[in-house]
Formats: sequence, C-alpha cells, structure tokens
Amino acid sequence: MSKILMLYASVTGNTEEIAVAIAEMLQKYNHEITMKTFDMDAIDVEEFNEYDAVLVGTYSWDDGAMPYEVEDFYDELEDVDLTGKVVGVFGSGDTFYLDTFGGAIDLLGQRFVELGADVMPDWIKIDLEPDKEDFARCQKFADDLNVKLAEKIEAE
Ligand SMILES: Cc1cc2nc3c(=O)[nH]c(=O)nc-3n(C[C@H](O)[C@H](O)[C@H](O)COP(=O)(O)O)c2cc1C
Repeated sequence: MSKILMLYASVTGNTEEIAVAIAEMLQKYNHEITMKTFDMDAIDVEEFNEYDAVLVGTYSWDDGAMPYEVEDFYDELEDVDLTGKVVGVFGSGDTFYLDTFGGAIDLLGQRFVELGADVMPDWIKIDLEPDKEDFARCQKFADDLNVKLAEKIEAE
C-alpha cells in the first residue's frame, strides 16, 4: 500500500469526475488516497514529502492558463526539489480551444519535469466530461502507477 495525494481544481465538475474515478481505481489496489481541492483546502508543497505519489488535476482557462486557484501552488513550485517523486497530471479541457487544449496540464507537467519529478508519461487531457474511452485511459494510468509504486517499494 502506498500513500497518494490527489489535488485538483474543478469548476463544473469534469476534472473532479476524473479525479474521483482515478482515486477509486487506486483504492481498489489498496492505496490510501488523500483528496484535496485547490479552492477549499490549504495546500503546501512541503507536504509532498509525506506521500509516495502526488497526482494533480486541473481544468484550463483563458489561452490555456492556470486557473486562479492553482496559481499560488504553481508559483510555489519554483524552488522545491522533487527529485524522484512520482507525479501524475490530468484534467479536463475543451478541444474547442484548439491551440491551448489542456494548456494548464502542460504547464504543470513541464514544471514537475523541471523539478526532477518522476512524471507519469501519460498527461491525461480529457475533452470536457470523461467518456468510456477516457475512463479506460484512467484505468491504464492507475494500473501503470500501481506497478511503478510496487517497483519503488521493491527497490528500497
Ligand atoms: C472562458 C473560458 C476559457 C477556457 N479556456 C480554455 C483553454 O484555453 N483550454 C482548454 O483546454 N479549455 C478551456 N476552457 C474549457 C474548460 O477547461 C473546460 O470547460 C473544462 O471541462 C472545465 O473543467 P471543470 O469541469 O473541471 O471545471 C475554457 C473555458 C472557459 C469558460
């Protein structure tokens, strides 16, 4: 069993639906999930140390921008060392915004890579509400994360 922190921002519920689905999939593997939302909970990058993996979900805003409630967290991610920390990024966007679809997910993913995190290769961008194929992709993500966490425990 690993401890996983799930942070997300969602206004109309799409990113929340993805977060809840992934959390349930990981719970089936007996992982302990702590869910927090950017608008309701105090979130401090330092607390990442308490978890084996951190998953961050966000919708995207004007021109692929970070939602305002995620901005402070994103800024805080400047000076931390996340070497080897298992991280995943996901969220809902709208393909109507062709050039900036899921832009906030890219910003987060890139920042985590720069900080040395072990970022899950599938940056899950979902067009509006998740459909059946999207849930299958989330399941694959949860399966892959489960394998990665087991490998980490074995290597220790
Ligand atoms: C004013 C406005 C700007 C938006 N800009 C973008 C954008 O640049 N890229 C994108 O992928 N989605 C954009 N969206 C779409 C939202 O990210 C999308 O509706 C998403 O599903 C909302 O997620 P939520 O249900 O978790 O809040 C925009 C939506 C609004 C209302």
